[in-house]
Amino acid sequence: MNENDLIASAVRLLREGGLVAMPTETVYGLAADAENELAVRRIFAVKGRPSTHPLIVHLADASQLPDWVAEVPQSAQTLAGAFWPGPLTLVLRKSSRACDAVTGGQETVALRVPAHPMALALLRAFGGGLAAPSANRFGRVSPTTAAHVRADLGDEVDLILDGGPCTIGVESTIVDLSSGSPAILRPGAISAEDLERVLGCPVPVQARGKVRVPGTLPSHYAPRAGVIPADPHTVALEAESLRAAGRRVAVMAPRDVAVPRGVGHFVVPADAAGFARVLYATLREIDRQGYEVIVVVLPPEGGIGAAVRDRLMRAAGPRQ
Ligand code: TXA
Ligand code: MG
Repeated sequence: MNENDLIASAVRLLREGGLVAMPTETVYGLAADAENELAVRRIFAVKGRPSTHPLIVHLADASQLPDWVAEVPQSAQTLAGAFWPGPLTLVLRKSSRACDAVTGGQETVALRVPAHPMALALLRAFGGGLAAPSANRFGRVSPTTAAHVRADLGDEVDLILDGGPCTIGVESTIVDLSSGSPAILRPGAISAEDLERVLGCPVPVQARGKVRVPGTLPSHYAPRAGVIPADPHTVALEAESLRAAGRRVAVMAPRDVAVPRGVGHFVVPADAAGFARVLYATLREIDRQGYEVIVVVLPPEGGIGAAVRDRLMRAAGPRQ
């Protein structure tokens, strides 16, 4: 099937209440018609996700924003103008179009215009909003290829659109604009510095708030193997003592980091953007090879580095 036919059949499925996996620039999403409550409930069933956790509504462009929100504050206008289409999700006070199944019963709705040609073609052809969480089972790492989606959700999805590997590799930055001052609920490729430059005010990261964000649970984004953060100086020692204790150890680190014998070296790019792109695929591969523990050299803090560190620190956190 050519791409036009694929998009047409995806639209047909979505109109009938089906589920379609779509590529985005961040991670693959599991999409349903955001205005079809039954279809949205199927997303939760397929993912095994608690139904109180809200979903992001994806739009074709910013002109659809006013349909979904009670009002469009100037800050939303500014950020949408600067970063859409792109890896930025805005949380705003909702309109009646955003049903409880999507918002988890909250008074706010999360919205984003993704920057992937196939996602945009789908959204334009569909016309309405598509509710889409990451297309993985609840609590597992997000999919960044169509094969990851197939491995996680397989037959339970009506159609998987293959748009190649995701170019960013970690989920969008979520910014709460629903109350007076903006706050980051989840770090992503659009950094705090990017937001502050455009808004001209501080945009702090909100630790744990009143809004429910499953991506902020400690054990979210976790591979099966345990995760231990390290730096280039401690990684070899840490890995060696675990290996000596009889554990199957993988190290995730740039090529130039020396790794002890008997320990798997999974090479990641030294720059944070490169690391982000391979992060989830590497965690999946390490799990597939049956390692018990991953010692990982965290990327530098700046830019998307904050998002990679956030996901790895959560993966390292207490498991539920
Ligand atoms: O990059 C992304 O954001 C990907 C792609 C597919 O767009 N989607 C994604 O969806 O990561 P999901 O469901 O895995 O994560 C969505 C996050 C959750 O942490 C959810 O709690 C939060 O968005 N969220 C959704 N609605 C919200 C709201 N009204 N208030 C606060 N957080 C909200
Ligand atoms: Mg997710």
